[in-house]
Amino acid sequence: MLDKALNYIKFSYAPYSKFKVACILIASNGIEEKEFYGVNVENASYGLTICAERVAIFKAISEGYNKLLKMYLVAVDENNNEVLNIMPCGACRQVIFEFSDSLKIITRSGEFDIKELLPFGFKILNL
Ligand code: THU
Repeated sequence: MLDKALNYIKFSYAPYSKFKVACILIASNGIEEKEFYGVNVENASYGLTICAERVAIFKAISEGYNKLLKMYLVAVDENNNEVLNIMPCGACRQVIFEFSDSLKIITRSGEFDIKELLPFGFKILNL
């Protein structure tokens, strides 16, 4: 799956940082599981850049697949060398935590649980 994500990284739009990221999110709508692909999409105003993880999550949520199960994450640097230690940024961890406290994040350097990456994450209970 990490190799599959790496194949998708060609769709990353990262002309400013030249740091390309791709992810595959496996999510369920309660009936079936589906793969959602995401890449980082940058912007000339920089601040409007969105990470690959959030693209994939928003694609899944907007199609009713709100049970986030697994995420495969890869990145390449400006020389197109694979970055082995890519990890979701803090903002993406918080967005993941909104929908799941058990998502597994799989990278070349190992498998991580969102709870270990974002202990004591913010959540509004009793909605
Ligand atoms: N980026 C991601 O897509 N995911 C991460 O987890 C880390 C950072 C993107 C944002 C920006 O386009 C580029 O990588 C450099 O920060």
